[in-house]
Amino acid sequence: MLFKQQVWLRQKLLVLGSLAVGSLLYLVARVGSLDRLQPICPVESRFGDAHSQAEFPLRALQFKRGLLHEFRKGNSSKEQVRLHDLVQQLPKAIIIGVRKGGTRALLEMLNLHPAVVKASQEIHFFDNDENYAKGIEWYRKKMPFSYPQQITIEKSPAYFITEEVPERIYKMNSSIKLLIIVREPTTRAISDYTQVLEGKERKNKTYYKFEKLAIDPNTCEVNTKYKAVRTSIYTKHLERWLKYFPIEQFHVVDGDRLITEPLPELQLVEKFLNLPPRISQYNLYFNATRGFYCLRFNIIFNKCLAGSKGRIHPEVDPSVITKLRKFFHPFNQKFYQITGRTLNWP
Ligand code: A3P
Repeated sequence: MLFKQQVWLRQKLLVLGSLAVGSLLYLVARVGSLDRLQPICPVESRFGDAHSQAEFPLRALQFKRGLLHEFRKGNSSKEQVRLHDLVQQLPKAIIIGVRKGGTRALLEMLNLHPAVVKASQEIHFFDNDENYAKGIEWYRKKMPFSYPQQITIEKSPAYFITEEVPERIYKMNSSIKLLIIVREPTTRAISDYTQVLEGKERKNKTYYKFEKLAIDPNTCEVNTKYKAVRTSIYTKHLERWLKYFPIEQFHVVDGDRLITEPLPELQLVEKFLNLPPRISQYNLYFNATRGFYCLRFNIIFNKCLAGSKGRIHPEVDPSVITKLRKFFHPFNQKFYQITGRTLNWP
């Protein structure tokens, strides 16, 4: 009898002990996490006037870094999503191009901002007839969960050069903000070529040299039928967009500068999107091995872009480069004039 009582008492003590240790650990973790959050992101200083504490709660930050990630991985229930007032919102800004301009880097870097939520995949809603026929609700359902106070951004570089897209986007939201990231046109064309070349090589296919595609062998002039050349005539594409949107709704990002000096470019975008400046030098560090800036979200989580970004370009005949630069020059001048941004390309 005495033995049974001793066992019962020991079990009870064990349960009570575990509960006490558990509670203690919980308290330590909670206080620790508050300590960590406070100096980095006190709500008021993060959002200044544009986003008051009521408008943009601290839990938005916790959500952005945690719950969203969990939900995407399927670890968070629909109830949790409802509990946190999360919604799938149509984008308030779209990176419409240009292909190989640095669209992925721009999207990922903007996603460092606590008020920005990115659509991870290129949706290709407006440029793909089959997708477009599925309707706007289909598009909305492709968007990530976010707080109403956050803005969703997507990028599909094919939008910039596809005929039907400006009208379709206008029909969705005539006051949407449009981001165009451009690089020096000849470099961009070579980058475009390099991507296609890599695809061919992967399939063990041979491909023409860049020089052969970019220069018409019959006339020895620039081959304007070559897509990589056409895409780099930025002003031609922009003019189509201007039939629907005023120039104030566009912001030009210098893709060459985003590579070498990303922060000032991102600060200009923050301003254009009416976001309080929250991306800092802390969030961007140069990775010598990659040869590019990489992203630092916090003390634990950082990442570089995939290896498919930042390929080594093939060597191109300097006379072809000169010819291309001469060809693009008048188009570039027009582009500067329309956009009000001079980029000093050769
Ligand atoms: P290259 O591969 O020619 O170097 P996009 O995302 O529109 O396809 O653009 C790809 C380009 O983004 C790359 O072209 C690369 O130069 C540029 N880029 C800009 N910032 C980068 C970064 N931080 N990491 C990797 N690539 C970056």
